[in-house]
Amino acid sequence: MKRGRFITFEGGEGTGKSTQVRLLVQYLKQTGADVVQTREPGGSPSAEEIRALLVTGAADRWSPMAETLLFYAARVEHWRQVIEPALARGAHVVCDRFADSTMAYQSYAGGLDRRLIEDLHRATMTGADPDLTIVLDIATDQGLNRAASRHDDETRFERKGREFHERLRQGFLDIAKRAPKRCIVIDAAQSIEQVQSAVQSAIKSRLSLG
Ligand code: TMP
Repeated sequence: MKRGRFITFEGGEGTGKSTQVRLLVQYLKQTGADVVQTREPGGSPSAEEIRALLVTGAADRWSPMAETLLFYAARVEHWRQVIEPALARGAHVVCDRFADSTMAYQSYAGGLDRRLIEDLHRATMTGADPDLTIVLDIATDQGLNRAASRHDDETRFERKGREFHERLRQGFLDIAKRAPKRCIVIDAAQSIEQVQSAVQSAIKSRLSLG
């Protein structure tokens, strides 16, 4: 059985990732592909429990170091229980956030040494690198305004302040620049349909899917 493709979506708050993930999964399923939709933090029962600790409560509830270890604890379980078995059986996996989010949020924005995250990734996640990463990019204020109109209690990172989110945006752009073969940046200020059309073009040109 040919191994499935691992596609991740990344970006700051209010970039519309979840909508684009849903539309891409719908599109790939229409082509007859076996597709698994998942997200981080979370995606497996134990990782969803860790998610609740990370995304609620006071903005300074965890230090960037503690956050990184919790995100990786969740990621190791999610990879082992959900992503790896799906890819092995030939399904494509579309994941809302993955390791680039730890680099962007906890290192570029949070200030943790990037080598620490790279070493932790290498030590715990052998072979777990996406085939394609779609980075949705939007002006910081526009993204934060969009995120503020959502009604949920998962607002811990949204409340970290504008400068944090500006460093975050630049972080995602730098990650994409350093890995141009794996990453593509799409302008998320466009309409939902325009963004999805750019996503589908990327899937076709980079992975020959769809
Ligand atoms: P979500 O809002 O996209 O579901 O993600 C939950 C929050 O967790 C979001 O504010 C980004 C943050 N996050 C990190 O800080 N580091 C990570 O490694 C991941 C996966 C998410």
